[in-house]
Amino acid sequence: MRGQERMQSVAEARALRMLRALASPARFRIVEILAERKDGTSPQLMDELGLAQSSLHDHLTALREAGLIQASGDGPNRYYCLDPTALEYLGAYLSGIGQRARSWTGAVRATRTEGEMGIREATSADAAAIARIYNHGIEDRVATLETEPRTPEERAAWLAARGPRHPVLVATDAAGAIVGWGALNPFNPRPVYDHVVDFSLYVARDQRGRGIGDALLGALETRARALGYHKMVLAAFPTNAPGMRLYERHGFTTVGIYHEQGMIDGQWVDVIIMERLLG
Ligand SMILES: CC(C)(COP(=O)(O)OP(=O)(O)OC[C@H]1O[C@@H](n2cnc3c(N)ncnc32)[C@H](O)[C@@H]1OP(=O)(O)O)[C@@H](O)C(=O)NCCC(=O)NCCS
Repeated sequence: MRGQERMQSVAEARALRMLRALASPARFRIVEILAERKDGTSPQLMDELGLAQSSLHDHLTALREAGLIQASGDGPNRYYCLDPTALEYLGAYLSGIGQRARSWTGAVRATRTEGEMGIREATSADAAAIARIYNHGIEDRVATLETEPRTPEERAAWLAARGPRHPVLVATDAAGAIVGWGALNPFNPRPVYDHVVDFSLYVARDQRGRGIGDALLGALETRARALGYHKMVLAAFPTNAPGMRLYERHGFTTVGIYHEQGMIDGQWVDVIIMERLLG
């Protein structure tokens, strides 16, 4: 295992050396020029790139040290050419990462399909399940500055008070049991903010990490667009790793952090504000 890890880190270091060398417009252009022909000399490359000799020399050295080009001959007869195996190696390395990402996405989708997860509009009959899942989030102290547990009656009243622009969606498993919920909430009652919507997202404690939050957030975004919203916003704890990852993957960016904004169980907590323009 240690040997395998060492092999991986050597492979990673090689790929990183090449990527660093390529991350310069001039060096990238040298690689493209050399890919078009068998080889090239310094004067030819200086002509084509409009670079001073010392600058070209530095770029060629960086590319050679990264293993991307080779040199042969001396003086004016010194020729540079690409090492095609290096670029093939880098291409295969990046493609491997892409394949791993694809297989993971496929696994998440398979879990959803196998489980026949569904998403539908919440009804008053869902109030107890919504309260139960909300209370998981409140008790775990990872999600909200709310500290008082909710009751089915309180959630039923909350559902009944919502207008058509502030729907609540529930995610259900194959048996129809509710495993998560999401809501589009009013951001600010002033009409100038009509295009902005806040949201809540909660997945049952034993169902987290299976793609339910991802699916619910996708459904909330679709619904927000259909309702004519221009922007979604949220407030969260920056320490909420699954939440942060989910929001960033959905294109939310950080507006700012309220430092020591709340106090829970005698501890200050920061609150991060994020937004996403729906376009
Ligand atoms: C935040 C929450 C809604 C996410 O829902 P989920 O169904 O667990 O999330 P998903 O399975 O869709 O995963 C979303 C991302 O988080 C990542 N993730 C899941 N669990 C994680 C963990 N423990 N640590 C780090 N990342 C994690 C997943 O890998 C995924 O990212 P990826 O697709 O790029 O790999 C859910 O964890 C939850 O209900 N938490 C408690 C309540 C809460 O925090 N609500 C949000 C308040 S702002």
